[in-house]
Amino acid sequence: MIPETVKAGADGLKVSWPNAVTRTFPWVWVRDHGEDAESLDTATLQRKVDTFAIDRKIHASSAVLDKTSGRIRIDWSGDETSEISAGRLAQVAGLFQGREKTLWGQGNMPDPVPTIACEKIMADDEGVLEWLDLIDRFGFSVITGMEATEEATKALAERIAPAQQTIFGTFWPLSAELSEHEDSAYTTDFLSPHTDATYYHNAAGLQMFNCIEFDGSGGESVVVDGFAIAEKIRQESCELYETLTKIMVPGQYLEPGVHLRAERPALRLDRNGNLAQVSFNNYDRAPFLLEDEDMTAFYAAYGEFNRHAMNQENWCKIPLRPGMALIFDNWRCLHGRMGYAGKRRFFGCYHNHAEYESRLRTLRAEFN
Ligand SMILES: [Fe+2]
Repeated sequence: MIPETVKAGADGLKVSWPNAVTRTFPWVWVRDHGEDAESLDTATLQRKVDTFAIDRKIHASSAVLDKTSGRIRIDWSGDETSEISAGRLAQVAGLFQGREKTLWGQGNMPDPVPTIACEKIMADDEGVLEWLDLIDRFGFSVITGMEATEEATKALAERIAPAQQTIFGTFWPLSAELSEHEDSAYTTDFLSPHTDATYYHNAAGLQMFNCIEFDGSGGESVVVDGFAIAEKIRQESCELYETLTKIMVPGQYLEPGVHLRAERPALRLDRNGNLAQVSFNNYDRAPFLLEDEDMTAFYAAYGEFNRHAMNQENWCKIPLRPGMALIFDNWRCLHGRMGYAGKRRFFGCYHNHAEYESRLRTLRAEFN
């Protein structure tokens, strides 16, 4: 996005974009973010400028925009010059908006359920982009035409990135017959909607299951849009929303030889105050005690989130059968499972959220 004008002001670089958007970038910041070969390693794109040697009172005598290249040349008082791109300024000014997410829930369920054929994902990177765009927009996707094998699960997962290793392994079988982990996931019971790995500092980003075998009744997977719940609470009660963004909730996982523990608010915001991650798992919540007022506020807010999570009108129920896989963003969607009878065997994995985002950014840069 090319600015209309740039100007060297007394307190910084003044930039005006179309639609009357203007920003002033402080001079120290502009010097610290140069993109010329003296300021930035052009091969690695890592900073070269000595941030800590910049005079805090530095100012420029002129700033000239080359509208063809989109670069701005800065002449500093003294003999130095540096360059910065209009793209970098627009990016930090928040002028490049992320894609719209489609929040869904009661009265607004995803219809049809976001679905893509495995063949398309395996064929080329445009297919992978279509898949990741679905996950980014809806928070989940069903994959059809899957082979019901461990190898096919691995091949599909690796179209995104290497799977994330946890104490459950890198790829893991999931069924009630397994007893190596002491967790409610390895039962036939109903599992209320939750996010996984609240006890990991780096909670699983994506979670994927491929249905290897199903011979029974019940056991539908449940997906719930945690971002939609958060937005509903934000609209209905600022106080409850704020409590969910402020109170750190610890999670823990215990089995012989393992004691994982981490904490974050149920709703983690990014630097701009936008929702970045939902963490909600009452099974794994570790004991913690707050002052009376905060404790009361916590139970009220956490209870309100749970009320929406348990509202079946918000549930997208997916009966996974061999030939189908399910993937969801564990930082956005809660998942659960209806109780079942019979045999149900899945094979799955997690992906690191940073690596999923990286794949999405690079594919969008390549094809969009
Ligand atoms: Fe889970």
